[in-house]
Amino acid sequence: MPRSRKPPKPSPALSGPEPAAARAGADWRRWVVYQVYPRSFADSDGDGVGDLRGVLGHLDYLKNLGVDVIWLSPVYRSPMADNGYDISDYTDIDPLFGTLADLDELIEELHKRGMKLVMDLVVNHTSDEHPWFAESRSSRDNPKRDWYWWRDPRPGHTPGTPGAEPTNWESHFSGPAWTFHERTGQYYLHIFSARQPDLNWENPEVRQAVYAMMRWWLDRGVDGFRMDVINMISKDTSLPDTLPRPGSRYGPGDRYFTCGPRNHEFLREMYREVFAGRDAHVLTVGEMPGVTIPEAVLFTDPGRPELDMVFQFQHVDLDHGAHKFDPVPLRLPALKASLASWQIGLAERGWNSLYFSNHDQPRPVSRFGDDSPAHRVASAKTLATVLHLHRGTPYVYQGEELGMANAPFAAITDFHDIQTLRFYAEAAGRDSRGEAGRPALLAAVARMSRDQGRTPVQWDPSPGAGFTTGTPWLAVNPDHVTVNAAAEVGDPGSVFEHYRRLIALRHDDPVVTDGDFELLLPEHPAIWAFVRRTAGAELLVAANFAVGATDADLPVDAAWAAATVILTSGDPPLQPPPAVKLRPWESAVWRRARS
Ligand code: GLC
Repeated sequence: MPRSRKPPKPSPALSGPEPAAARAGADWRRWVVYQVYPRSFADSDGDGVGDLRGVLGHLDYLKNLGVDVIWLSPVYRSPMADNGYDISDYTDIDPLFGTLADLDELIEELHKRGMKLVMDLVVNHTSDEHPWFAESRSSRDNPKRDWYWWRDPRPGHTPGTPGAEPTNWESHFSGPAWTFHERTGQYYLHIFSARQPDLNWENPEVRQAVYAMMRWWLDRGVDGFRMDVINMISKDTSLPDTLPRPGSRYGPGDRYFTCGPRNHEFLREMYREVFAGRDAHVLTVGEMPGVTIPEAVLFTDPGRPELDMVFQFQHVDLDHGAHKFDPVPLRLPALKASLASWQIGLAERGWNSLYFSNHDQPRPVSRFGDDSPAHRVASAKTLATVLHLHRGTPYVYQGEELGMANAPFAAITDFHDIQTLRFYAEAAGRDSRGEAGRPALLAAVARMSRDQGRTPVQWDPSPGAGFTTGTPWLAVNPDHVTVNAAAEVGDPGSVFEHYRRLIALRHDDPVVTDGDFELLLPEHPAIWAFVRRTAGAELLVAANFAVGATDADLPVDAAWAAATVILTSGDPPLQPPPAVKLRPWESAVWRRARS
């Protein structure tokens, strides 16, 4: 590991957890996080790929938006099989993105502006090109053999043939979750692609190596970590078979590695070894597919302590059928109920994160809103209003603040994402309709592909959208001629300015952070309404998720008619509550003091 720029701090390992009261009072709960996916944010050198100097060039834009924290998706050295979520050196920057000096400058420039930096921590797996894996693969008796999950072929099967895998788990990126290594005659486990072997967290040396690396980054000045699939680090060590999917030999093995038996133990150990006793609060968020509310309470209870918050997936899985590329219609009551259940579930202990969007999800205005020219702006604002006024930490994913929409991708050659391409290849190969089935398959892929969230940020209407002077690695959305930052910043009616107002509201009004949550009209098919309440004040939020005007009698007292309108998606509301009349995709927020 390269030497740290600053002298290392003594290990805080044994200083014990920070008192719960200190954490509970922390103002990190008022922060808003902005996610930068560096490959698609801004390209400073014309090679078509975003980079750190591109991020450095837009810090004033982020400051103007008002966000407190930047979460940077991986910029470490990587063969880029999964765009950097396959790391071959945890303590260096990939030349594609810049240098360690650029990263140091980013930390410094963010801190100068009062903002913080959260790094992506990808430690469920490494790249197959990481030196740890190279050693582990080199022989059965290498000291690092046990740093990964190596197992013998299934008895009675020819090694390397389908069915000989140690379990019948499928990978999240299609195909089996095990790959055979001829030379040493064993299989290794990879929940994601074969280029992303899973680390064996049962081995204490692995954990210590990870903690040392995390301390190294904190000593360098970073302020926190977003932890990639951190609820997959503890596996059921008996590695049981799973129920195969119909017509397949393989099936999802997730229940054997999601929130596994030692997950909490590992995270508490990480807290003690890395975070406890530091001068400033280290912001932590665990990405956790499949996490349940009771588990999330345990992960985020400040009294334990493990993490500040988790990314749960319930609401972004609602429109998945048998799998993510099998989109099904989403009913608004289901979406409202999902978010409300987490508000209630984490009301007493724990903390929510709030997101509709990230680098793995299609654009929310296309998915949950309406990206037609008539409704894009209003629906993007209304989605933001609803999300940001829930209780928890809001995450803004780059371009969301501009109301960026899905791109009109139509051919498989438009896509780049490993998950999309592997799914397509497998599904196309299996599709008995042959060529005739392609349009439907492509339509599903175009709707749900991770590439939809990864199109370059639209800075201006120029041919490269102000993202690059070269050829962008992934096509810019042609709508950038009208949807772009240059057009939106400073325009009071824009999506960008609406996000700015929402972020300022969170900073200024304690009800947004602290208020409790009550969902109104849970079964209403078009209205999303709720109340946030502290002892001193309350907010009423009402939003219309329909392309037509909608009337609703909100179940609130008549005195709300005298409350102040503090935010709208456009013109002043037609009628005060309780009997609201909302225009298409309109939302409004009222506030009143409580006596
Ligand atoms: C997380 C990341 C995703 C990545 C996967 C494997 O879900 O967000 O982009 O492909 O983990 O690291």
